[in-house]
Amino acid sequence: MESLKQKICSEGTVLSEQVLKVDAFLNHQIDPQLMQQIGHEFAERFKNQGITKIVTIEASGIAPAVMAGLELGVPVIFARKYQSLTLTDNLYISKVFSFTKQTESTLAISSKHLNADDHVLLVDDFLANGHAAKALIDLVGQAGASIAGIGVVIEKSFQSGRAALDAEGYRIESLARIQSLAGGKVTFLE
Ligand code: G4P
Ligand code: NA
Ligand code: NA
Repeated sequence: MESLKQKICSEGTVLSEQVLKVDAFLNHQIDPQLMQQIGHEFAERFKNQGITKIVTIEASGIAPAVMAGLELGVPVIFARKYQSLTLTDNLYISKVFSFTKQTESTLAISSKHLNADDHVLLVDDFLANGHAAKALIDLVGQAGASIAGIGVVIEKSFQSGRAALDAEGYRIESLARIQSLAGGKVTFLE
């Protein structure tokens, strides 16, 4: 997606060979017009698939997910993050370890909102090592729902998530694929 790649080049900051900072339009300040284009692009790529729900994770997945939900005409569920959680029987729960933040959190979705009739599009802001995506897949599986695919705003193709999810047969649509952040420079995969 050309406008996204341009935005990454003009407003993104390479923090290290592993981390791209995009606080100017995605992770802190949000560019609504770009988010709308992102939602439109996800909807184009996943239309006519019988998607009934979009599932993402708070916080940064919500903006692109809502825009995609608006375009596809389906509700958006964000898995909630808890530092600790007492057992409750009406929640689907999965643990996720963040390498970026070096913290473990528990993701939860109420069973009220997701069931075996649902066909789900997963959306997230970043795909790095794929731990967040795998936790979402686990939650959707607990509901007995099926997965249409995974929509990612920014994929860091040099990390392990993309290959691992490809190997499991998931359809992944990433709107910007980054091959490398070496030398303080963003190189896209074409
Ligand atoms: P993984 O889920 O793919 O394995 O990735 P990882 O554990 O590294 O990701 C943890 C958090 O860091 C996620 O946000 C993810 O979106 C974000 N992240 C990963 N790589 C980058 C990067 O290069 N740049 C930026 N800006 N973020 C990255 P989160 O914990 O869900 O936080 P939030 O943004 O939703 O608050
Ligand atoms: Na994030
Ligand atoms: Na995220």
